[in-house]
Amino acid sequence: MSNAFLEAITPRRSIYALGNELPRSQEEVIELVTSAVKLSPSAFNSQSSRVVILFDEQHQAFWEIVMQSLREIVPPDAFFSTENKINAFAAGAGTVLFYEDTQVVEELQKQYALYADNFPVWSEHSTGIAQFSVWSTLAQVQIGASLQHYNPLIDEAVQQRWELPESWRLRAQMPFGNIVQPPGEKTFMPDEQRFRIFK
Ligand SMILES: Cc1cc2nc3c(=O)[nH]c(=O)nc-3n(C[C@H](O)[C@H](O)[C@H](O)COP(=O)(O)O)c2cc1C
Repeated sequence: MSNAFLEAITPRRSIYALGNELPRSQEEVIELVTSAVKLSPSAFNSQSSRVVILFDEQHQAFWEIVMQSLREIVPPDAFFSTENKINAFAAGAGTVLFYEDTQVVEELQKQYALYADNFPVWSEHSTGIAQFSVWSTLAQVQIGASLQHYNPLIDEAVQQRWELPESWRLRAQMPFGNIVQPPGEKTFMPDEQRFRIFK
């Protein structure tokens, strides 16, 4: 079956071998990322997702923070592989930081007390949808990316470095760049274990 959306999301994969030669201009990447986030739905249209896009030296500075933070907690004899991993992300052209604004969530909790317990959960759903949208949009233009989670270890240093609002909570980091090495084949578990159809 042919379907334009499925075709659009098929190229998205976790790409770890990144280069810093983007096939598109930074302006175009900004446009793609911001559009992908804006087109992503959120609970009550609360638009709780916040995004920081870092290029070049700003992107390098971010991965240096990750490296320093990890150096403080990873035993020295195990740091070699950590260092290689972080260097591979830093070799990319940029990083998208995904945040959720806790102030938005708290206001919704006050406004709609009946759903108070659900808003933090829906906020997590919203960032996941935004992450998938950005990841897939970048893949469409042959920009490789992966999804990383060095939060909460790096939260404070990053918030201070880029003077971000305290209510912004870091949820994921997405290093991106040109695809230096394509991903391996992906396997899928049997459909009958995942889907139950009744008709
Ligand atoms: C919610 C979520 C969290 C993930 N966290 C990480 C992560 O911290 N580090 C990482 O390298 N990949 C992470 N991944 C990527 C998955 O490992 C990857 O998507 C999965 O193996 C399928 O491969 P694909 O992305 O190539 O389709 C995450 C993916 C999802 C959806």
